[in-house]
Amino acid sequence: KEWKGSTTKVFSSIQSPNKENVMKPTLLGSVPDMGEETALEASYAAEKAFNRGQGLWPTLPVKERIKCLENFVEKMRLERELVSKLLMWEIGKTRIDSYKEFDKTITYITDTIEAYKKLDRKSARFEKESGIHAHIRRSPLGVVLCLGPYNYPLNETFCLLIPAILMGNTTVFKPAKLGVLLITPLLKAFQESFPPGVVNIVFGRGRTIASPIMRTGKIDVLALIGHSSSAVALQDQHPNKNKLRLALGLEAKNPAIILPDADLDIAVKECISGSLSYNGQRCTALKILYVHDGIVDEFNKRFAKAVDELKYGMPWEENVFLTPLPEPNKPEYIRDLVDDALQNGAKILNARGGEMTSNYCYPAVLFPVSKLMKVFHEEQFGPVVPIVSFSNINEPLNDIAESNYGQQVSIFGKDTKSIGPLVDILANLVCRINLNSACQRGPDVYPFTGRKNSAVATLSVFDALRTFSIRTFVASKDN
Ligand code: G3H
Repeated sequence: KEWKGSTTKVFSSIQSPNKENVMKPTLLGSVPDMGEETALEASYAAEKAFNRGQGLWPTLPVKERIKCLENFVEKMRLERELVSKLLMWEIGKTRIDSYKEFDKTITYITDTIEAYKKLDRKSARFEKESGIHAHIRRSPLGVVLCLGPYNYPLNETFCLLIPAILMGNTTVFKPAKLGVLLITPLLKAFQESFPPGVVNIVFGRGRTIASPIMRTGKIDVLALIGHSSSAVALQDQHPNKNKLRLALGLEAKNPAIILPDADLDIAVKECISGSLSYNGQRCTALKILYVHDGIVDEFNKRFAKAVDELKYGMPWEENVFLTPLPEPNKPEYIRDLVDDALQNGAKILNARGGEMTSNYCYPAVLFPVSKLMKVFHEEQFGPVVPIVSFSNINEPLNDIAESNYGQQVSIFGKDTKSIGPLVDILANLVCRINLNSACQRGPDVYPFTGRKNSAVATLSVFDALRTFSIRTFVASKDN
């Protein structure tokens, strides 16, 4: 609905890396500054649209819900330019990756629609066992609160929102603080494609929006990709936590293990993209490299050189790989991690490592990293690459087993006989093992999940539909 209240100005946080030519923050636009009252209205609208399972949306035939989604996709496609440009300006994603995020999101929606058709055919079936006939189907869960992260403000939020809506749930969606403006070109498409109350988008701060909504106790599913501290704080607000379902994508500290027979050209190339794509601000990023001590000197030399050759610049410039960081406090945090590692015996291997001003922060490659250092344990989510050397494979394996996280691992090596048993162990510690390639989320048809503090539930194209629904059936007896 039309917003008549106060608004918040959105400035680009992307500053020129050139120290002599620091730009003034550019005003990009503004978003409504909604408070608790509007948040509760939105939550009530979602609750009313679900209407305890009797609302229009949860009772609408599958085909009709699909039509609404298809209509939305057509309208969304028209906003490709603007949304992609805002991805560059708001969160500093490179031009290539910004368009990729937009296109990937469209594909995710269309693939989810296709998956839904298959799932519906497969789930809505008849079975007979011991004289009981069952008509099985998938049913929605209720009202879903969706919160996405700043690093994939479009794609990762939609990976929660879209399957939730398709399965017949109604939703409240609060865009991430950074990357908030890029949702605004899509508001009209949402409004024109879905009945009222199905998608309720609320702008404002987490504390004034998400917390009051949780306190109503009317939320059935908390769907969040972000930090576990936010997830825990929000769960705690819910008066009946046992009722709440969770769909969470959280932190990770994905390691790469580089074995003595690894092809170093491949290992260096993959570890560069794995650890430093989008400046390392990806939950799937390689956040610690374990290199066998027989090859560590050669690997370090090549890796540090490759890092110094990466082009730094503004997101819209050609061939740029590294860009300024959108989070205002991130460089200070990275500085602290680097200083702590240096004080505890590490060195910066690359010539430009540690250079930083304002939100410009050149990656630092640190070696030798040990458990004494913060960077060994923390999810840096930024441009710093810790390297640890090992002589026995049990050293990285024990660290991975003791880690608080369990999303993915990368292994680099040629001897399949020794990698086989390693894979068997790692499959019990993480959820995806990448052979001679960097950790990543895609393709989206594969399960995206994690153990320990890395995830609750699975969010692939197919799994997300299951995550946001429950199998129900009608049973009848041969009499
Ligand atoms: O931040 C986590 C994202 O899901 C990473 O996805 O591996 O495709 O960059 P990506």
